[in-house]
Amino acid sequence: MKKYNWAILGCGWIAEIFAGDLKTLDNAVLYATGSRDIKKAEKFADQFGFQKAYGSYEAMLQDENVDIVYIATPHTFHCEHTLLSLQHKKAVLCEKAFAINTTEVEKMIAASKANNTFLMEAFWIRLVPTFKKVLNIIESKELGELKVVQSDFMFHGAYNPESRLYNLDLGGGALLDIGIYPVFTALQTLGVPDNIIANAIKSPTGSDEYIDIVFEYENQKRAYLRAGFTCDAPNYSVFHFEKGTVQISREMNCPIIIKTEDGIQELRENDGEGYGYYFEAAHVMECLDKGVIESPILSNEFSVELISTLDKIRKKIDLTYPNHDGVSRSN
Ligand SMILES: NC(=O)c1ccc[n+]([C@@H]2O[C@H](COP(=O)([O-])OP(=O)(O)OC[C@H]3O[C@@H](n4cnc5c(N)ncnc54)[C@H](OP(=O)(O)O)[C@@H]3O)[C@@H](O)[C@H]2O)c1
Repeated sequence: MKKYNWAILGCGWIAEIFAGDLKTLDNAVLYATGSRDIKKAEKFADQFGFQKAYGSYEAMLQDENVDIVYIATPHTFHCEHTLLSLQHKKAVLCEKAFAINTTEVEKMIAASKANNTFLMEAFWIRLVPTFKKVLNIIESKELGELKVVQSDFMFHGAYNPESRLYNLDLGGGALLDIGIYPVFTALQTLGVPDNIIANAIKSPTGSDEYIDIVFEYENQKRAYLRAGFTCDAPNYSVFHFEKGTVQISREMNCPIIIKTEDGIQELRENDGEGYGYYFEAAHVMECLDKGVIESPILSNEFSVELISTLDKIRKKIDLTYPNHDGVSRSN
């Protein structure tokens, strides 16, 4: 079994969860951490058993032993950090939102092709068996046609204009941070909508702190999607079929609940340890074993579909990101 040296770019919250999951994979070597602060990189490396720690992202990328970089910085840096990693010929798994807008994502994909180097958005739920099972149920038509999708992702994130959740310079806003999950879910299950209705409640920074979205399809299908930092919610995705409903939780290791006229059935698809981020990490290494530069399951074409849908929603709620959407801070 070929082993791969992983490096973490940005030692924040999700990087810790990911590193814990990465540890469970036999072919993943916890090799390097990179932070703007060497002490932070060293602390993170010690905590999870990484072999090397670097006080800058660039220095870490110059290490020729790094095979794969997991990018876990705020969304506004994803494009820059992905381009830098690809230029150093490192395979990239980059957190969602893949970047701020379609233009940035297209640049990232072009760089992956130009450097003949792997690139995938870290949309971990697509690789988790629970979500795969839902896609199987849809495809099999065992419950008839899927007609309506409802999907929520909300939690209470106290207002702080400096935080990643609210600060526009860090890509703040509910849509790109958590609304992206309901949008992803609708796109994966119903496809690209023919019409989008979206309404947002803005925070004092101008970011969306709550958003509700309706996807309308010409074939009479609908998706009702909500996200926000203003309150908590059960955070389910419910798929309404002609002959029953299927419900999954945001926690991907919860059972799938299927309700039909025959009764209620619980399916547990994902019993592994950890949070489920190891599925995407394992998939990246499978892709590298096969010598491909793009995942056949989570394609870059899909990531373009996702970000361009997010761009359309942002237009509806009049949300732009300074220095990214062709608007400078001074405008
Ligand atoms: N897949 C998931 O389930 C999931 C969950 C949460 C978040 N995410 C995504 O992961 C990314 C990071 O989220 P997070 O919650 O981990 O954020 P976080 O705790 O704030 O960490 C982000 C890290 O980025 C680095 N960074 C570089 N420039 C920065 C700047 N100007 N300001 C702040 N941080 C900067 C910092 O690392 P150093 O100080 O070490 O350089 C920081 O620790 C986001 O894109 C988010 O959408 C994904």
